Amino acid sequence: MYKKPPLELQTSTLWEYPSQHYGEGMQGSKGYKGATPSYVIWNLLKRYTKKGAVVVDPMCGSGTTLDVCKDLERRGLGFDLQPQRPEITRADARHLPLEDASVDFLFVDPPYSTHLKYSGAPECIGELDADGGGYYEAMDEVIAEIDRILKPGSYMGLYVSDSWRQDQPFCAIGFELFSRMSKRWTPIDIVAVVRHNKTMKKGHWHRSAEAGNYFLRGFNYLFIMQKPSGKAVAKTPRAESALPGTEAPVQKPRRRPPPLSPPPPKLPRGKQLKKKKHRI
Ligand SMILES: C[S@@+](CC[C@H](N)C(=O)[O-])C[C@H]1O[C@@H](n2cnc3c(N)ncnc32)[C@H](O)[C@@H]1O
Repeated sequence: MYKKPPLELQTSTLWEYPSQHYGEGMQGSKGYKGATPSYVIWNLLKRYTKKGAVVVDPMCGSGTTLDVCKDLERRGLGFDLQPQRPEITRADARHLPLEDASVDFLFVDPPYSTHLKYSGAPECIGELDADGGGYYEAMDEVIAEIDRILKPGSYMGLYVSDSWRQDQPFCAIGFELFSRMSKRWTPIDIVAVVRHNKTMKKGHWHRSAEAGNYFLRGFNYLFIMQKPSGKAVAKTPRAESALPGTEAPVQKPRRRPPPLSPPPPKLPRGKQLKKKKHRI
């Protein structure tokens, strides 16, 4: 029987692991379209957080971040417009019910323009096109909200892919978001995460990419940033084995967020629909 390799810290800027999930079980849900490979979050938490740290995922989807937090004894708080589990709070990532400067680490894997259909809610950023459809303006608001809730000196990771669709302009979402985030935060590094997408291995995808002279998305960006501490540039922390545990309190909401549209009906697992025809 195939056995997954043990998890260990990735030490180059090219990250690869042969499975969406580590260990025996699952983190998040493999049926959730756009779920994040859990080893990516595991690596970030090992490097940039301590036991007991408050970790937020404002677009938590199937809850991958929460499961990794549980495994590593971090205090995960998940938000999404279409909560898949009771422990995920329904909220807009632009208006989170959290206090200013209350979060030790934040991970976010946002929609990549309109590539996948999520809740269809008017607040869903996956409804906004990166080609002039308001996607970047909405992401600017998400970035501002992350900045508000992160503690000075703390770290965040954003996982994203560029967008290419037939007969439409290429959208360099990675470069655009990196540039917007760098206006607020200090870039720590850029990682290329190899995509193991089964559809990429299908013959007709290869043939279409050859015939149409375009490229399939082979990697995602992982941008790692640090919110300035206000003091001299903070030293990068050592990976977890060297760090003692701490407790960081969750704080009360700072202000009332605007009301959300009524929740959408729950989509059965694996039944999320693609909005538009696109190449991964
Ligand atoms: C790529 S998925 C995240 C996947 C997640 N990391 C996981 O492993 O399951 C992007 C998520 O963003 C959510 N989303 C889109 N717009 C949002 C908004 N304005 N506020 C909160 N969540 C939003 C979608 O519902 C979707 O679950």
